[in-house]
Amino acid sequence: MQNYTRTALWLHWLMALLILAMFSLGVAILSMHGLTPSKLKVVTIHKWIGVTVLLLACLRLLWRLFHPAPPLPDSVPAWQKNAANALHMLIYLLLFAVPLSGYLFSLAAGVPVVLFGLIPLPVVIEPDPVLRPLLRSAHFWLNTTLLLSIVMHTAAALKHHFVDRDNVLQRMLPW
Ligand code: HEM
Repeated sequence: MQNYTRTALWLHWLMALLILAMFSLGVAILSMHGLTPSKLKVVTIHKWIGVTVLLLACLRLLWRLFHPAPPLPDSVPAWQKNAANALHMLIYLLLFAVPLSGYLFSLAAGVPVVLFGLIPLPVVIEPDPVLRPLLRSAHFWLNTTLLLSIVMHTAAALKHHFVDRDNVLQRMLPW
């Protein structure tokens, strides 16, 4: 039986954890009104973790290009294999699009990002009052799509484990 590499496993679960934390921070941001010091703190931490997710996404894509995923079992119908591939590609795309839209939104709002308060990141666009609301809603809708994709991805993994009773979920577990 072919398996994922240890690196692929750890990247998968580390990113899953960080993205879960990011959704919680995002919801916390939405519920905090006014520019209070505590909201600024939460937004700053959100940006640092978000940029970390973007860097991990680059690493993960590179790793995946040189280490293809093991094939799905023969018992899985072709349409399900195609659907799984399409969903995985969409999630990869969103792992870049979501943090990039947040990054650009921050710049358009006139707030450059200093990673961990130490590393100033490139200012690729100037503050822009027209782009700002567009990028804000892009960040929101890309996040909504990512959340829905992750829900479908998780439901499919659980179906493999509990209904089909194959090894598809198990081969992604670190133990
Ligand atoms: C995987 C990465 C990320 C996820 C899952 C994520 C998720 C979210 C969510 C769920 C929200 C609340 C809904 C919304 O307004 O969109 C949010 C808001 C926000 N995000 Fe992100 N984000 C990510 C990366 C980033 C990055 C890299 C930055 C900037 C460097 C960023 C900056 C912001 C800002 C400034 C807000 C507040 C928007 C507002 O003022 O309403 N995000 N994010």
